[in-house]
Parts: sequence; structure tokens; C-alpha cells
Amino acid sequence: MLLLISLFLTTGLFTASSAKLTCPSGWVSYSKSCYKVYHLSDTSYDDMRFRKADLFCGFRGGMLAEINSENENNFIKSFLANRTDITHGVWIGLRKMWGQFWMWDHSWDDVIFSDWADHQGTQEGLCGGMFRKYKYSWAPEECLPDKEMSCLCEKKLRHSNYWD
Ligand SMILES: *[C@@H]1O[C@H](CO)[C@@H](O)[C@H](O)[C@H]1NC(C)=O
Repeated sequence: MLLLISLFLTTGLFTASSAKLTCPSGWVSYSKSCYKVYHLSDTSYDDMRFRKADLFCGFRGGMLAEINSENENNFIKSFLANRTDITHGVWIGLRKMWGQFWMWDHSWDDVIFSDWADHQGTQEGLCGGMFRKYKYSWAPEECLPDKEMSCLCEKKLRHSNYWD
């Protein structure tokens, strides 16, 4: 009996965690995350201001992408550059707090690694994205932009408990 129970638990644990460690279809996988680009036309919104993009990713079990390393940034730049459906840029989770310093909006982490396009980190705009015209380096943008933004959502893959 004990053996059966532990077999059951072990199998359950294995199934639960391996299921959580695969990206949903339509999302690309890199390291421990999944990424997906959405456009305004995928939403029911009439604009893609930063706050709506953030909510939209949240409703899909993710957040606006937060980039913490050069490798992650290089992967994302290559992934975005390979696409032809991005007209202007994608929101990532960059927000300028109190008009002073940049933070990652979801985790509230400081922005340690950064990839601002030339002199862009200090320009106007309290929300941040990756822009086609800068080969997907980062730049600030008005949080309610006058050009149509897309958004880059990220879901973290993580080992979960059997009970999750
Ligand atoms: C982008 O395209 C290049 C050339 O086809 C390919 O080598 C690379 O892996 C692609 N990048 C991503 C992230 O899909």
C-alpha cells in the first residue's frame, strides 16, 4: 500500500512538474521562460497603452517581459528581428519611477543589465520598449504612444509542487 501511494505521488509529481516546464503552444521558449508577441488586433482594446499591454499579458498568465541578462536580450532581439509583423516596437516591462529611474514593472527589480539605444535612456517617455528602428535596442516611449505598439509577454516556467 505504502509503495502504491509513493508510486502515485512520484508519478504525479513528475507529471505536474514536466507539464509546467513546457511552453504553451504559440509561445517560444528560452531558458526558463516563454515569450509571445501580441498586437493591438489580438486584443479588444482601442489602443495599446503600456498599462493595457501589462494587463493583457497578466490575463494570459504572464507579464510584460523583463530582461535580466545579455543572453536573454540577445535571444529576444533575434526573435523580434526575425519577425515581419512588428511595425513600431514592443512594450517590455520598463517603467520610469517618479520620473527618475527605471524599474521592472512586475518584479520591482532594478534595471541592472540594460541595452538602451544611443542616448535613449535619458530621453522623454516614462515607459520603455524595444524598437524596430533601433534594431530592438531599448528606448523610452510615451506610455500612451501615438504610434501603434505591440507587446512582448513573458511567462516564467517553474517547478511546481504536486498540489499546484
Ligand atoms: C532568427 O533567424 C536566424 C536565421 O534564420 C536563426 O539562426 C535564429 O535562430 C533566429 N532566431 C530566433 C530567436 O528564432
